[in-house]
Amino acid sequence: MANQVKSGITNILELQPQDSTPLYRQLYERLRLAILTEQLTAGVQLPSTRSLASELGVSRNTVLLAYEQLLAEGYVEGKVGSGTTVAQVLPETLLLCANTKSKSQLKHNQSRHQRLSQRGTALAQTPLIPKPLQTSRGKQQRIFRAGISGINAFPHELWSQLIARRARNSLQNLLTDRDLAGYLPLREAIAAHIVVARGVRCTPTQIIVVAGFQGGIDLAARVLLDPGDAVWMEDPGYLGARGALLGAGANVIPVPVDIEGLDITAGIAKYPQARLVYVTPSHQFPLGVTMSLARRLTLLEWANQNGAWVLEDDYDSEYRFVGRPLTALQGIDSSNCVIYFGTFSKVLFPALRLGYLVVPPDLVEAFITARHFIGTRVPILEQAVLADFMNEGHFNRHIRRMRSLYTQRRATLVAALERELDLEVYAPETGMHLVLWLPPGMDDKLASQQAAAVGIDAMPLSLFSMTETRAGLLLGYAAVDVHEIHDGVHRLATALRAI
Ligand SMILES: Cc1ncc(COP(=O)(O)O)c(C=O)c1O
Repeated sequence: MANQVKSGITNILELQPQDSTPLYRQLYERLRLAILTEQLTAGVQLPSTRSLASELGVSRNTVLLAYEQLLAEGYVEGKVGSGTTVAQVLPETLLLCANTKSKSQLKHNQSRHQRLSQRGTALAQTPLIPKPLQTSRGKQQRIFRAGISGINAFPHELWSQLIARRARNSLQNLLTDRDLAGYLPLREAIAAHIVVARGVRCTPTQIIVVAGFQGGIDLAARVLLDPGDAVWMEDPGYLGARGALLGAGANVIPVPVDIEGLDITAGIAKYPQARLVYVTPSHQFPLGVTMSLARRLTLLEWANQNGAWVLEDDYDSEYRFVGRPLTALQGIDSSNCVIYFGTFSKVLFPALRLGYLVVPPDLVEAFITARHFIGTRVPILEQAVLADFMNEGHFNRHIRRMRSLYTQRRATLVAALERELDLEVYAPETGMHLVLWLPPGMDDKLASQQAAAVGIDAMPLSLFSMTETRAGLLLGYAAVDVHEIHDGVHRLATALRAI
């Protein structure tokens, strides 16, 4: 007769309702772990869905879903609803036993899976930016996630019409497009835009369309870096850049950022012979500062004298609400040491996965050839649609609309924070997020967790830091309706006061 699991199971199944992982998935993972670690052994009967649901205080459906998943994967046997027991042979054992004759072979197979390359290990171990917190059923939506644009205001209808038109009229002509740098009319449209809007000095031949920032930095790192090369990285800085650089085997040197941007003197003191510098000079991510002209000139001079490359990430400079942005670093670089990156993720929508590099003329061929072998070209239909969107004036119109929307949302958020909280706010008139500085001694990860519990997705600044940093929270305003802002800030203030 099967042993019945009675009380006590809830101790090993503690669920986290605030977590972004759905409850059924959490329950499935806890049960699977309990089975794999033999806290629940073969033949043990699991409680009925009804009684486990009531012990855990979750819906019966949550338990049903978790049991069904375990059943489908072979961790439990029987029939959900009429007695479920832990399987006699677990799927892991079956997988390892298949085609395996001896124990030593089994061991060998296990270690094969663990033998990642150094590059693979570095890539796999770099922390990912956490996914935006999901809304769990029946709960408030989580707001203020930094980096999310106001996609509700994107002209979806128009975009679909452009896709349909391209598919109908000219897709056939595109099917054999072999331009390794990307669709030429798109490169022409990009060049026309950034020459005027960002002061970038380039021709369309210098532009390479890439699969977003990760596609661009991966290509640049492969062409320009050897394993072990030192790279200055803003600290705090963008995790997407850090991960790609570590994955390329670079020796990532954290360089502090102050109100004028990357501290070049500190970089030189730490590692004078760096091979590459990663910077976000127009709007430092995550702090939001703009690199001063003096620093820009010092950086370019140092790079020129030392034969170093500068990777300029200009990810969201379209959103400047007052005055004109400073010209891109690339535009004042007279020694061709800057590789400029731009993306459509912020200004249009992130799933588009379209970005571009502007490469110095003498590097173009090497970049294009390398990209051919890496194989990360970008689908042609999206490129053609984007070219139409830009050439027909929709792109500039969209930017103007979003600028005015974000101006209003930013002002509302700043006013609400000032009213509700006696904390310092750094809210430059650019980008899509601001920084809320926390009082000395407050742990920003804890503050972020408390905020999540009341529906606020505020990433802690320390997440982006490699060394000790001042505690703060990032609050994005681009995707939050004005009428949601006051209530959201009130909830955040209540959560922070409780710490
Ligand atoms: C600093 C920074 N650079 C670049 C990007 C753009 O990344 P992608 O083009 O891969 O969407 C982001 C997006 O979050 C960012 O925050």
